Amino acid sequence: MQARIVVLAGDGIGPEVTNEAKKILDVVGQRFGHAFAYDHHLMGGCAIDQKGTSLPDETVAACLQADAVLLGAVGGPKWDIPTAVDRPERGLLAIRKALNLFANLRPVKLQPELIHASTIKESVLEGTDMLVIRELTGGAYFGPRQEAGDAGYEAYDTMLYTRPEIERVVRLAAEAARARRRKLTSVDKANVLASSRLWRRVTVEVMQEYPDVTLEHVLVDAMAMHLIRRPATFDVIVAENLFGDILTDEASMLAGSMGMLPSASLGDLRNGHNLPLGLYEPIHGSAPDIAGQGIANPLATILSVAMLLRHSLGLETEAAAVERAVDDVLAAGVRTGDIADAGSEVVGATMMGDLVAARI
Ligand code: IPM
Ligand code: MG
Repeated sequence: MQARIVVLAGDGIGPEVTNEAKKILDVVGQRFGHAFAYDHHLMGGCAIDQKGTSLPDETVAACLQADAVLLGAVGGPKWDIPTAVDRPERGLLAIRKALNLFANLRPVKLQPELIHASTIKESVLEGTDMLVIRELTGGAYFGPRQEAGDAGYEAYDTMLYTRPEIERVVRLAAEAARARRRKLTSVDKANVLASSRLWRRVTVEVMQEYPDVTLEHVLVDAMAMHLIRRPATFDVIVAENLFGDILTDEASMLAGSMGMLPSASLGDLRNGHNLPLGLYEPIHGSAPDIAGQGIANPLATILSVAMLLRHSLGLETEAAAVERAVDDVLAAGVRTGDIADAGSEVVGATMMGDLVAARI
């Protein structure tokens, strides 16, 4: 197979972790006979610096033509200016919208070797293996808003959802549950919010098409508690944008480190393709405090490559090979600093990438 992959390395540790991810793609290409071509574009703070906007038009155009998009991370204190009209994060939100990436898949699977890296008790963590699906192009992130004027008196964001926006993400979550343990937990705040009441009503309707999938509704505040009380009981979780954002940072600690969690943001099938365009990125940020030191954990980005191979290129064997290589390296006791414990061999990003590549 030949595939064109747009790489948006971004800011901070973004270039370091995407370099390791490309190394893995190259090895997968050699080992399985594929040719991956990379097309680098700007997004985030680097784009503000070089092009004057966090999301240049040519970046969007390139992504729309690509087979998949690989993203590092964006942001940093340099662009954290309260009065700035553009910010790196705006680029990220705008690209999600421009590519219509409405479903964000964040698998949270505890690697048994990392059970000690979490701050949570082992007995609670055991067996954790969930897939959080976060709605990504609606809700308070994109609803009508008002910034506070010069007087700084009033500001608002609107959590707005339409029926089709809820239907498509719930359907995708139901399909994912079908391929797993057939349980779906829908998160909302239906006791207070109108948008959540619509969310719940539409979810119940859609799920009538999936009688083989067990549905439960959990209020978001209770969910924050259940995630760390009984994480192993969850299979697929679906949540609106802001709730999903918050819950996935919390859930990342179940896997030991933010440095371990990959994500896929998927849109609809495109004409002439039987797989969706997707944007693949680690869930961690640009970590400006450690940028340039070569100590970042590239595994979340490498595991995002596995998701890219699986979801946008349909290469399941290759995806599984990447995941197995990561498991093997961890089983051998190799760690980056963020997941290290006494007795582990601590390596930098490049060495971690080399070791995973060697096992593929
Ligand atoms: C995420 C991030 C982004 C979000 C920020 C950087 C805009 O927190 O991908 O979870 O809120 O969606
Ligand atoms: Mg977040």
